[in-house]
Amino acid sequence: MYHFIYFLIFFASISSPVPAHRTLLQNGTVPTPCPLNFDTLRRLIQGSDRRDLDTRSQCQYIRQGLRLVQSDYLRRTNSFLPPLNSADSCWDSYQLLVNDYIPNFDVRRRCGFQTPWIATGCMNITTRAEFESAVPQSLLDDVVAACNQTLINNSPCATCTTALSNLQAPYLSGSSIGNVSDCTAYPFIYAGAFVNHLGPTDEGTAKCLFNLDFTSNGSSDRGKKIVIIVVVVVCVVVLILVLIGFWFIRQRKARFLKEKWKNSMKNESNVSSGLDSISASTRLIRFTFDEIKLSTKNFSRENMIGKGGYGNVYKGVLPDGSEVALKRFKNCSAAGDASFTHEVEVIASVRHVNLVALRGYCTATTPREGHQRIIVCDLMKNGSVHDHLFGLIDKKLSWPIRQKIALGTARGLAYLHHSAQQAIIHRDIKASNILLDENFEPKVADFGLAKFTPEGKTHLSTRVAGTMGYVAPEYALYGQLTERSDVYSFGVVLLELLSGKKALIAANDGEQPSLVADWAWGLVRKGKAMAVVEKNMPDLGPVDVVEKYVLVAVLCSHPQLYARPTMDQVVKMLDMDVPIPSIPERPISILANIDDIERSVSSSSGSGHLSTAAGYQHYT
Ligand SMILES: *[C@@H]1O[C@H](CO)[C@@H](O)[C@H](O)[C@H]1NC(C)=O
Ligand SMILES: *[C@@H]1O[C@H](CO)[C@@H](O)[C@H](O)[C@H]1NC(C)=O
Ligand SMILES: *[C@@H]1O[C@H](CO)[C@@H](O)[C@H](O)[C@H]1NC(C)=O
Ligand SMILES: *[C@@H]1O[C@H](CO)[C@@H](O)[C@H](O)[C@H]1NC(C)=O
Ligand SMILES: *[C@@H]1O[C@H](CO)[C@@H](O)[C@H](O)[C@H]1NC(C)=O
Repeated sequence: MYHFIYFLIFFASISSPVPAHRTLLQNGTVPTPCPLNFDTLRRLIQGSDRRDLDTRSQCQYIRQGLRLVQSDYLRRTNSFLPPLNSADSCWDSYQLLVNDYIPNFDVRRRCGFQTPWIATGCMNITTRAEFESAVPQSLLDDVVAACNQTLINNSPCATCTTALSNLQAPYLSGSSIGNVSDCTAYPFIYAGAFVNHLGPTDEGTAKCLFNLDFTSNGSSDRGKKIVIIVVVVVCVVVLILVLIGFWFIRQRKARFLKEKWKNSMKNESNVSSGLDSISASTRLIRFTFDEIKLSTKNFSRENMIGKGGYGNVYKGVLPDGSEVALKRFKNCSAAGDASFTHEVEVIASVRHVNLVALRGYCTATTPREGHQRIIVCDLMKNGSVHDHLFGLIDKKLSWPIRQKIALGTARGLAYLHHSAQQAIIHRDIKASNILLDENFEPKVADFGLAKFTPEGKTHLSTRVAGTMGYVAPEYALYGQLTERSDVYSFGVVLLELLSGKKALIAANDGEQPSLVADWAWGLVRKGKAMAVVEKNMPDLGPVDVVEKYVLVAVLCSHPQLYARPTMDQVVKMLDMDVPIPSIPERPISILANIDDIERSVSSSSGSGHLSTAAGYQHYT
């Protein structure tokens, strides 16, 4: 049906040719046919369910699509650009494709692209050989290491785009002609053509390098739908049978488990604390709902110690007298239990002094309370960093304690990102998620759990809840999630810790609240890093050390992804005498015009570096 309509549009558009541009070139030569193959792009669009060439920003999309086609051309011909005298016919070919999806959209006129721009590019580089001689081999090797893999997931994609922008920023900084395939785009076009073995038309490569999402969301195919429904029905039936079976076994096992659990607690205290961490995950206890109810006095109000996006947190006492924190998730259904259990096992296998240890969990369905998911963690005696900085606790934290908190938190996060068997992105680092034990050793809480909040609500609720100040701009706007969004949030927490100011500094009425990250950068830029630090902090350390912490915090909370260090680097910078890299100028304020952010983000994820076309709006 669609195809028929497209066919009509297609037909109409060739019978009434695109206006104006099909003329002779200025010097009288006849345009030659376009060597670019736009069918590659057309096939991708048709193969995906989303025919949304016209979503957010049509011109961006059109330009990214062109870069993909150029990447394909480069792969075939070793040339970045079609010959200049084919520029006209190339635009015409592209126009035909665009007509199928966006009626009455004259690409060149609407997007401000001049005709020759499709055939001109960056620093007179046209061929593969010219490109490769313009950049050092070592950086190209880095790019190959980072980008020659499936890029569909965020984390490999982030590594790859970082490597590409490291290549672009210093070596392809000359002048570009036009903004169609300028210097910021060249590394991406090159990587799609020669580095990634899947080629530019692979879904993951297109998504990562060209910001074009052709991944199927699986809604269109009716056959698929039926298969899915059948599978789901079968699964549900099997699940019910299994649950019934389980119920019988559990009845008998419950008592046995209680015994076993008591024994394991005994064992644990017998074994020395140096026990290797591999067996740690096997110590994860599966509690019954009755045990949980007992320990929290049936979730009594007085036991409630916190409320979060996921649900409530209760204090509980286990039969052996140890105090624990229990997090009870809201609105669960039995359907996701398998993945929940798996995830909890993964989380439990991650052990580090600066991460809150998971003790056990409970999933159960009761007639009265519905489906329940609860996790049980160690209880932290000293509350959270938020309590100490902004809460009821009056005593100001001393500098050595703040230093310990900063370093410990950085270590915990570095471990999550780099040392765990599978990298875990926290997604919700904030002062209230950093807990303190009786020695003020910080423990990062709630890692790995964000994926259990109802999808899509996370951004909304964090913003509504007023914690927007912690969320990295690219994540808040597009959900582009990498380890570096955690680095951003860490930077904000570090600034709070140093300045005693909240992530979002409240303003006098009428004015927009400002971000602590912007405020601190304003001071650092004027060379007044020490002005960021809270007045009268007890036992303040030497100026050079304190200043280093401020600079690291500002670097981490940089709005551009690539400017931020990794958590490993942060630990080194805080802990050792590693020099702090100079902080790149911030192109835009986070609270600036949303369009500017959009451009900067999409160009930093799609084409690496803020293009000059995005317009530098200096922070003031
Ligand atoms: C005409 O101009 C195009 C570029 O504008 C150039 O490539 C071509 O060689 C020129 N032809 C003649 C005959 O001057
Ligand atoms: C799939 O994508 C289409 C087009 O964007 C959208 O209308 C549809 O709701 C999506 N379906 C699902 C199941 O996400
Ligand atoms: C490209 O540059 C032109 C003119 O310089 C401008 O009008 C247009 O918006 C730019 N396009 C994009 C996608 O940045
Ligand atoms: C590109 O080449 C033209 C002539 O071939 C030359 O005038 C111009 O300076 C070159 N530009 C760069 C950035 O090398
Ligand atoms: C990329 O990896 C594939 C195999 O995974 C290999 O065949 C190819 O040579 C690699 N490409 C580069 C440029 O190293």
